[in-house]
Amino acid sequence: MAIQFAVSLSTCLVLCLLAFPYRSIANGDALKEKTLAMIKPDGVEGDYIDVIKKTILASGFNITQEIQLQLNENTVKSFYAEHASKSFFSDLVQYMTSGPVLIMVLEKANAIADWRDLIGPTDSNKAKATHPKSVRALCGLDLQRNCVHGSDSPQSAVREISFFFEKSSSGFVSTHDEL
Ligand SMILES: *[C@@H]1O[C@H](CO)[C@@H](O)[C@H](O)[C@H]1NC(C)=O
Repeated sequence: MAIQFAVSLSTCLVLCLLAFPYRSIANGDALKEKTLAMIKPDGVEGDYIDVIKKTILASGFNITQEIQLQLNENTVKSFYAEHASKSFFSDLVQYMTSGPVLIMVLEKANAIADWRDLIGPTDSNKAKATHPKSVRALCGLDLQRNCVHGSDSPQSAVREISFFFEKSSSGFVSTHDEL
């Protein structure tokens, strides 16, 4: 009895010491991060929504919000404003308005980097060559029609999530009449 008690006491001490500081961090919301994921028109049209969502959930993300939208030109132009001067901009706008998209907020620890890892290189041809298990290897077609989007930094994630999901900040949800 005494030995058993001593053993379980010391086991508990070790486990509690190991587990306590870890748990208090791991359970805190501080480590959780949100990122914006989008299945682009080629992904929606190619019927990849289910398989991509399964991959997302199997990789430990929660999908906390989602909305399917047909984007219009103005929305795409303002979402991709940083690319406005690039030669591919009008093609990009045409592509992104060519059919509905599915927009999701993904949540987990390290969500931004982990979702970027999961989708693979921007160029789908490169993804097929070097990251055959990535989402873009699965459903992307080329550099532009690359099937999915992921925020590239914490700043982008905040901006992009509020762009689509917080009515007051961008005005998107409240003023968009295609909803
Ligand atoms: C996902 O949601 C479930 C249920 O609300 C929760 O228990 C779990 O901690 C969440 N996981 C992440 C990674 O946010």
